[in-house]
Amino acid sequence: MSWIREGELTIIERFCANIIKAGPMPKHVAFIMDGNRRYARKCQVERQQGHSQGFDKLAQTLRWCLNLGIREVTVYAFSIENFKRSKEEVDGLMDLARQKFSRLLEEQCFLNVCFAYTSRHEISNAVREMAWGVEQGLLEPSDVSESLLDKCLYTNNSPDPDLLIRTSGEVRLSDFLLWQTSHSCLVFQSVLWPEYSFWNLCEAILRFQMNYSALQKARDSYMEERRRQQMERDQAYVTKKLQQEGFASHGDSQRRRTLLQRCTAMREERIQGFLQALEHKRVDFFERLCTVSA
Ligand code: IPE
Ligand code: IPE
Ligand code: MG
Repeated sequence: MSWIREGELTIIERFCANIIKAGPMPKHVAFIMDGNRRYARKCQVERQQGHSQGFDKLAQTLRWCLNLGIREVTVYAFSIENFKRSKEEVDGLMDLARQKFSRLLEEQCFLNVCFAYTSRHEISNAVREMAWGVEQGLLEPSDVSESLLDKCLYTNNSPDPDLLIRTSGEVRLSDFLLWQTSHSCLVFQSVLWPEYSFWNLCEAILRFQMNYSALQKARDSYMEERRRQQMERDQAYVTKKLQQEGFASHGDSQRRRTLLQRCTAMREERIQGFLQALEHKRVDFFERLCTVSA
């Protein structure tokens, strides 16, 4: 039987879900599922039991998200820093992850799991990939931009989260999706993750809805600024080319326009080529990793 789809909302939950769905809904929600060990201590059970209940809570939360029409969920399941915990705890978490995620991922295509992840590692890796592209002659240094960095992140196939929720009362991001959440609604809730309820999720969505127009405004003005910066970079590139060809930088405007169009098309072509090469490089890396660990 399906783990996520089994179990429906109660009548009262369905009623409230319908009211909430009348407002703007987050399409992508990210969770920092925190507080498993405090929950275990509170209930006087083994730590591993706290983690196990945390994984089960994720299945239940995904079911609520599905019912609320949330199309994508990203979870922070294990950070690189978490490897510093005791061997016993790390081994226990690895076992749980193997069992529970294979079951969850079998059923769902809307779940992204960040495991052995930190955002700073992801961002510095993206910067290294762009430097590699320049070194290989696939990119021009002027192609490096925020939008290219977006495409080099592991999350390149997903829109940025609209809402990020952290449980357990901690008000920090612990190196999770730092780049992707600059225009997300951040909601910190005091409930421990294994005790997370449908009502906690509704409360977080309501907070998103209350801040919706400010979030949209910030996101739109950022995108506008990004387009403006790209235009400036393209103009500077054309000016340089014209100067190299011996034309005055203000040149004849028709030639400048044609060159600008050509430069933009060539930049897009270079970026496509680079992203394809990057994709191959990543696939090769994973294939080699699977061969080594097989
Ligand atoms: C989150 O809960 C799960 C992982 C980090 C794997 P914690 O294990 O951090 O539990 P607390 O925050 O110490 O209670
Ligand atoms: C962050 O929680 C990582 C996960 C929830 C997987 P931690 O409990 O490890 O973070 P810190 O150490 O309190 O910042
Ligand atoms: Mg914690």
